[in-house]
Amino acid sequence: MANNFFQWDQGKYSIEVPTMDKEHQQLIAIMNKLYEKHSLKASKQELATTLKELGDFVVKHFKDEEEYFSKIPEYSKKEVHKKIHQELISKFTGHVKQFEKEGVLKDDFFTFLKVWLTAHIAGVDMNYGKGLVKKAG
Ligand SMILES: [Fe+2]
Ligand SMILES: [Fe+2]
Repeated sequence: MANNFFQWDQGKYSIEVPTMDKEHQQLIAIMNKLYEKHSLKASKQELATTLKELGDFVVKHFKDEEEYFSKIPEYSKKEVHKKIHQELISKFTGHVKQFEKEGVLKDDFFTFLKVWLTAHIAGVDMNYGKGLVKKAG
């Protein structure tokens, strides 16, 4: 069985919010689909389809996530978190534009996605989930 390029790791990535864990797993699944097509040297058209699927899902996920954490009074980093989402979208869009010009996905795009998982999901997202320090009383 081939190893997936992006691997869900319950211990590292679960933020203990089931709906968001599920979306993060879906995100990883689409990233893997894209990486597989890239490895198999799929056509630009095929890559573009999955890239769009990933982009659409990211937008949906950020919206769901922002709605979720807007309802948590203890979570104090809402605005910073939203800003980080905007920055991720803008970096993602930059990679998409590069792809549209060149017709191939570069290694640095996949590195960017890996950093997303380790730094954003396991870092920033953790703070509204498992890492949330609930105020007493
Ligand atoms: Fe997230
Ligand atoms: Fe997030």
